[in-house]
Amino acid sequence: MRKPLMAGNWKMNKTLTESIPLIKELINLVGTYQDTETVICPPFTSLWVARELIQDTNILLGAQNLYFQKEGAYTGEISARMLQNIGCSYVILGHSERRGYFQESSAEVAQKVQEALIFNLKPIICVGEKLREREAGKAQDIVREETEAIFTVLKPAEVQRVVFAYEPIWAIGTGKAATPRDANEMIQYLRSLLVHKYGVRVAEDTRILYGGSVNPENIKALMAESDIDGALVGGASLQAESFARIVKFKEKE
Ligand code: PGA
Repeated sequence: MRKPLMAGNWKMNKTLTESIPLIKELINLVGTYQDTETVICPPFTSLWVARELIQDTNILLGAQNLYFQKEGAYTGEISARMLQNIGCSYVILGHSERRGYFQESSAEVAQKVQEALIFNLKPIICVGEKLREREAGKAQDIVREETEAIFTVLKPAEVQRVVFAYEPIWAIGTGKAATPRDANEMIQYLRSLLVHKYGVRVAEDTRILYGGSVNPENIKALMAESDIDGALVGGASLQAESFARIVKFKEKE
């Protein structure tokens, strides 16, 4: 059984001072909740305070990126070992904003995934197509290329330690989420790639999230689909109340 996972990607939002009340409020709302695995991914500058606040709760910590080198003269970068040491369990890798603004290639994302696994961080690996790629009927090709680049570094025993997130780029931050049916269809396709490469058992155990304009109103319908195992949530994770409603999608409101 795949336990639902909701990860809040704060992106470049919230100072240290602003992070504290948000985390405290979230702890009040979902700190002891067990039916969903809850992860917050604040900016690097808030990781330490987050770790201090969430200890003894069910909320886990994630980072938004890492650099694949171990250490050294890489000004401005953060290593996997640093993230492990500060208490991260997860790290988002290959987010479309990094692939886009920062020109991260699939090969680079794959190197980062490898490095994360060495340090026992669970990568949340993002894949997804642009609007024009979808309109040109190439959505599956893009998802396949981005996913298979990861497969080149992923050993069968490691697959269950990673999470995939299907994030169609046109749905991110736009308020226009994919329909539950379309999201599920692509996630089923992604799972079929896993079946092909690693076998049915591994594929059935691997969690695949949907991301892109997830909110408290659309989460139930998304989670009702057969293959959607959770969500990577941007905007709606910046308010404790809305993220908590997403985490508690199973509860009656
Ligand atoms: P959004 O972002 O929920 O604000 O659309 C999702 C993401 O980029 O992970």
